[in-house]
Amino acid sequence: MGIFRTKSVEDAIATTDEPEHRLRKTLSAWDLTVFGVGVIIGTGIFVLTGEAAGTRAGPAVALSFVVSGIVCALAALCYAEFASTVPVAGSAYTFSYASLGEVVAWIIGWDLILELALGASTVAVGWSSYAADLLSVTLGLDLPPWLYSTDPSPTNPNLIAAAVILVLTAVLCVGTKTSARVNAVVVGIKLLVVGIVIVAGLFFVQRDNWSPFVPPTGSAGASSTPADPSLWEDLGVPLGTFGIGGVFTAAALVFFAFIGFDIVATAAEETRNPQRDVPRGIFGSLAICTGLYVLVSLVVTGMVSYEQISVEAPLANAFRSVGAEVVATLISVGTVAGLLTVMMILMLGQNRVLFAMSRDRLIPAWFSKVNERSGVPTRITAVTGVVVAVVAAVTPISELAEMVNIGTLFAFVLVSIGVVVLRRTRPDLPRAFRMPWVPVLPILSAVAALVLMGFLPAISWIRLGIWMAVGVLVYLAYGYRHSRLAKRS
Ligand code: ALA
Repeated sequence: MGIFRTKSVEDAIATTDEPEHRLRKTLSAWDLTVFGVGVIIGTGIFVLTGEAAGTRAGPAVALSFVVSGIVCALAALCYAEFASTVPVAGSAYTFSYASLGEVVAWIIGWDLILELALGASTVAVGWSSYAADLLSVTLGLDLPPWLYSTDPSPTNPNLIAAAVILVLTAVLCVGTKTSARVNAVVVGIKLLVVGIVIVAGLFFVQRDNWSPFVPPTGSAGASSTPADPSLWEDLGVPLGTFGIGGVFTAAALVFFAFIGFDIVATAAEETRNPQRDVPRGIFGSLAICTGLYVLVSLVVTGMVSYEQISVEAPLANAFRSVGAEVVATLISVGTVAGLLTVMMILMLGQNRVLFAMSRDRLIPAWFSKVNERSGVPTRITAVTGVVVAVVAAVTPISELAEMVNIGTLFAFVLVSIGVVVLRRTRPDLPRAFRMPWVPVLPILSAVAALVLMGFLPAISWIRLGIWMAVGVLVYLAYGYRHSRLAKRS
């Protein structure tokens, strides 16, 4: 059937050679790792750790990071094999076009909008309140609260969030190499701050705070509003808050902290030696971040009891609570700087996916024109930037973090299945990186992502279903008829 037409891998690689649509190959394994760390460390560790420890897992949030890290490592193996076989812009979208067919590719591309664009909007709103807080603490400059509200509306738009997105969009338009340089500086600052948290925090750890390490099921926690029940609970699995079940519900939340390692794969086409460097970039950044997250969460839950942990700014407030004001301010500076790269790279990933979709004519060709001087698809970059800014300005974002997670986990499921399918349909393709134990590991990866999705609330599943249904309608109305493959057949 037409909707399952696949684009051959040779075809996918050949389209990247059309001069008008060619991206520059400038990135190395080092650039990719820096890119990865730049987008991975962000709101997840700086903000969500508090909510995860305070309302779901207690000190065992460190284990939640390990659980999430394992799910990501399994998916990373799949992404690495795919990226080393199909080194073309567009990540999971491109991979699935070559293996699972056009309609699945479209679904993934549409789904990635949840991860990337919505993710950038979410981080922008979080950034705005940190930035306002920092202005107030350091310069005594108090902005009107509606300017940076985390619950904005069209009449009270979060203009700070919108402004930061537009500035970053301008940076992206200048060119990828420039962006990588800006990123490297900010990543350095961010790692320094995380290092300070771990080392300085150790002096304030009180072992009592770690016991019980896994609080018993039904414990009160730090917030008067407990977490929404997960899908598993709605299906009758008696999990309750905290306990072992809490470790997993917290894992589904802090999964946000890992989002972004897959974006390294989206830059495959701009990498000088993708077969070797993309797997290195993915695993390097994932390993560094998992280690840091476990250490940071152990230190923070050791400094303050999980029942008193701040759910808005857990790291900075942990230091405030022990009187270390200077460290607290440093952490805020690092967060403000660090979230900049997160937003920038999320948008970069979004641009690349839309670029690939436009090149395949699933969305109009107009979008994928590359600017000759900068080598950047400027039109897509600008359109994405404006949309992300508007969404950040007017949408209450709190629950949408869970949308970002469910959308990303769903992409993991499809990519894992894709690896197995492509091994069957194209065993002949050269694979610089081969995932071990196929099909056992990819199947395990898909199941792990699905199980983790079950620890998110049922409402997120419903929203995901609606978003996907709209996507299929858009595909039938445009892409189905206009795609390059459709034209050819
Ligand atoms: N992983 C990124 C963050 O935590 C999206 O902000």
